[in-house]
Amino acid sequence: MSTESRIQIETKNLNVSFHDHVVLQNIDIKIPAKKLTAIIGPSGCGKTTLLKSFNRLLEIQDDVKIAGQILVDGKNILRPHLDVPDIRKKMGLLSQKPYPLPMSIRDNVAYGLRIHSNKNKDEIEKTVEHCLQEVGLWNEVKGRLHDPASQLSVGQQQRLCLARAIAVEPEVVLCDEPTSALDPLAAQQIEKLLLKLKKDYTVVLVTHTLRQAKRVADYVIFLYFGMVIEQGPADIFFNNPKNPETKAYLSGEIS
Ligand SMILES: Nc1ncnc2c1ncn2[C@@H]1O[C@H](COP(=O)(O)OP(=O)(O)OP(=O)(O)O)[C@@H](O)[C@H]1O
Ligand SMILES: [Mg+2]
Repeated sequence: MSTESRIQIETKNLNVSFHDHVVLQNIDIKIPAKKLTAIIGPSGCGKTTLLKSFNRLLEIQDDVKIAGQILVDGKNILRPHLDVPDIRKKMGLLSQKPYPLPMSIRDNVAYGLRIHSNKNKDEIEKTVEHCLQEVGLWNEVKGRLHDPASQLSVGQQQRLCLARAIAVEPEVVLCDEPTSALDPLAAQQIEKLLLKLKKDYTVVLVTHTLRQAKRVADYVIFLYFGMVIEQGPADIFFNNPKNPETKAYLSGEIS
């Protein structure tokens, strides 16, 4: 990571367990602002758990223990009495399968604006159009904004979810394997969008597709059995990894 990058998210000795089963252990990572950071590692290594910890989504599950620190812009979001909706507003989330809300295309994007902003009706309409433009969906939906979002194709729904996430102007966009349920063309569109979005947002992408991480990542964090094995700038990580386990993972010897 270049020295001038601001750190958006940093964890210090983060430990997470479910029902006393340790899932993340001594996690110390730094995620640079306005870059695309890929979190990679085999199935079950804790990628989703780590991502969910960033917007305090973990604790809605039963019997979870979280210890350590998660600093967002230098402030520990695990401290008591924190405004959790405020943290979630800062962090848009795009999940593996698109979950449009059971309402119209337009209302999906306007939904968060009504809660999180004091924009008037005209401003809301402008923002809806702008966000749909940003995700390349405007031309496809401008004639049917009041149709149910469920009528869109899966790829369109995923772009709609991205539009909904950015409508409330988050600082970070967290993506959990956002292309794995999509056909190759729709996946490519989402990948391109993530690359575009990092100009304005910090993008954190969980993927278990090494090829995808190679294509898009500026910075990589490799998790294995709940531990960070290696992290660093993508070119160094892929071309000159230091850790033998990273080398084995990259060469396909472990999966
Ligand atoms: N709510 C939960 N209760 C109990 N165990 C959980 C819970 N959520 C996750 N785990 C366990 O934590 C470990 C890490 O899970 P996680 O979903 O973070 O992995 P992952 O790296 O995202 O895997 P995948 O690539 O398959 O999505 C797994 O062993 C999983 O079974
Ligand atoms: Mg996962």
